[in-house]
Amino acid sequence: MSIRIKSKEQIEGIRNSGRLAGETLKYLEQFVVAGNTTDFINEKAHEFIIQHGAKPATLNYNKFPKSICASVNDVVCHGIPGPYVLKDGDILNIDVTTILKGYYGDTCKMYTVGKISQEAQDLIDVTKECLKIGIKECYPGNRFGNIGYEINRFATSKGYSVVYEFCGHGVGVAFHEEPEVSHVAEKNSGKRMREGMIFTIEPMINQGKARTKVDRTDGWTARTIDGMLSAQFEHTILITPKGCELLTDVYGDF
Ligand code: MF3
Ligand code: CO
Ligand code: CO
Repeated sequence: MSIRIKSKEQIEGIRNSGRLAGETLKYLEQFVVAGNTTDFINEKAHEFIIQHGAKPATLNYNKFPKSICASVNDVVCHGIPGPYVLKDGDILNIDVTTILKGYYGDTCKMYTVGKISQEAQDLIDVTKECLKIGIKECYPGNRFGNIGYEINRFATSKGYSVVYEFCGHGVGVAFHEEPEVSHVAEKNSGKRMREGMIFTIEPMINQGKARTKVDRTDGWTARTIDGMLSAQFEHTILITPKGCELLTDVYGDF
């Protein structure tokens, strides 16, 4: 098996899907307020995605029951929207993957509820910087390992740990394609990036230990092993002749 090189037509399709996924994150901002449940946000996301002629990729994916992932506080990823009521001080990751005309766009970001602690804000800022640092490594000829090498170097220099049990991934024609994009890696390890490859970088950064545990009851929710906070940002990235293009950056802040 090898890493797919996307055709012009596929790139156009994935670009459109990626833009919609990013626009969904933006649309959801108004609903991330104290008193709303994560299920309500899920409903809003579902409607928005359907109204735009797409489908939420997570719904029924390996029996995942909802249209987005909503991961609050110590939840690292794959949080299932439900009756949880958002409260002042919460930090929340929403991860949206759209399927538009058969093409996948995958992105996530952090949201804050009311006034959050300085510690939580610092974690969010460093995690966003980690994604930016990973993106800087995206150009033809560079090796995938350098993404994880640089992210891990930066995060640990700030006193945080990097989750190694979940990775970024090739994306576009399917939800999870080759390669696995690790956020902790050896310098100059892995395959080389080539023009036309599309993949995600989605670092999960923890305040405490890197280890996670998956909820035994729901089989999905991954939490930090020590109950400390975790944050994540994700973009879908195309390798271009000179560097890369972010296919999910609707905010323009990367
Ligand atoms: N969107 C997630 C990712 O970035 C995957 C979610 S899979 C689910 O890869 F089943 F949990 F929804
Ligand atoms: Co992803
Ligand atoms: Co995602």
